[in-house]
Amino acid sequence: MESYYVPEIADNVFWVGAKDWNRRLFDALVPLPEGTSYNSYLVKGTEKTVLIDTVNPGFEKEFVEKINKVTELEKLDYLIMNHAEPDHSNAIRFIMERAPKAVLVTTKKGIGMVRNYHEIPDERVKIVGDGDLLDLGGKTLRFIEAPWLHWPETMFTYLEEDKILFSCDFFGAHTAQGVYDEDIEDLIPMAKRYFGEIMMPFRKQGAKALEKIKDLEIRVIAPSHGPMYKNPERILGPHRKWTSGESEKKALVVYASMWGSTEKLVREMAETLLSKGIDVRLYNLAVSDIGDLARELVDSRAVVLGSPTVLGGMHPLAMQGAYLVKAFKPPIKYGVLLGSYGWGGGALKQAAEMLAPTKIEVVGTLQVKGAPKEEDLKEVQRIALELAEKMEE
Ligand code: FEO
Repeated sequence: MESYYVPEIADNVFWVGAKDWNRRLFDALVPLPEGTSYNSYLVKGTEKTVLIDTVNPGFEKEFVEKINKVTELEKLDYLIMNHAEPDHSNAIRFIMERAPKAVLVTTKKGIGMVRNYHEIPDERVKIVGDGDLLDLGGKTLRFIEAPWLHWPETMFTYLEEDKILFSCDFFGAHTAQGVYDEDIEDLIPMAKRYFGEIMMPFRKQGAKALEKIKDLEIRVIAPSHGPMYKNPERILGPHRKWTSGESEKKALVVYASMWGSTEKLVREMAETLLSKGIDVRLYNLAVSDIGDLARELVDSRAVVLGSPTVLGGMHPLAMQGAYLVKAFKPPIKYGVLLGSYGWGGGALKQAAEMLAPTKIEVVGTLQVKGAPKEEDLKEVQRIALELAEKMEE
């Protein structure tokens, strides 16, 4: 039998999750430079034992061995599903088959997902709502509905006596490193990247959830990805800012360029913005990690999108960049579209159409034929100065 580390995070509260050190992609989209973890927690009262969330497919064996280090799985009383996405719920059926008296706990919105994904009979499911309590004997769990973070059924579970908030995806970070937040110096940029990818489109729901827990005394935040926070304010403070829609005097410049013409335009834009005191983050989409873009989108005030025309439209990488700007719903206020073409344009018309449903005000657009000339660069400077002025507002 392999030996596993099962930290006891409070008296009779254990982390029994899994670390996926080598995972490098999530949702077939987002790079994971440091892997991730699937955190599950086991709480033992004097009367009842509870498991909170499960693990990703492929980790069932180590999961069971960890649980059995601190209790007998077959004696489990409850399995709480804070969230139905398979990285946390996939082992539900596996656990329920091995713990014959266990009852699955979920919200009214979660029950449909339980039926769809896990085929657990209704008589083994307990539906809980906001404020409901579960007495384990000396330990009390309180359920806090926090819908749309980032699926409809999401909830938090709060352990009253130990003041631990099990927040599932919210407050998460994709990293397999560390056990507690104090172990990772650069944790908040990782959490910000995760927020940008997963939670930013649900900023308003995130703000509501924060409002709901604002008076809760929290000693530890125990999310479902990344380390646990012994210093809750370290992650609460940034989340208050990120969900507020507050932005920085920062411009995210993203582009694709095939022969350097579009690149010249965006570089001219970047240099002019820098000269006006704007924090510029420039990414060539051909060599960039979209997790980095997601992180920068969280608090950028402007986006500059550059694309050559390819086959009558945008370069596919620029199209993906524009799509992410639209889909992630960042708090960006201003935009600039720059591009080049050989014999017929079309990229910027398409970019403008893609961004039309957003609230981004397009401050300037420039499309040049072939390599940029002196007057083109002057026009880029003019647009940059106008953008910089607006960003001061
Ligand atoms: Fe980590 Fe929404 O699952």
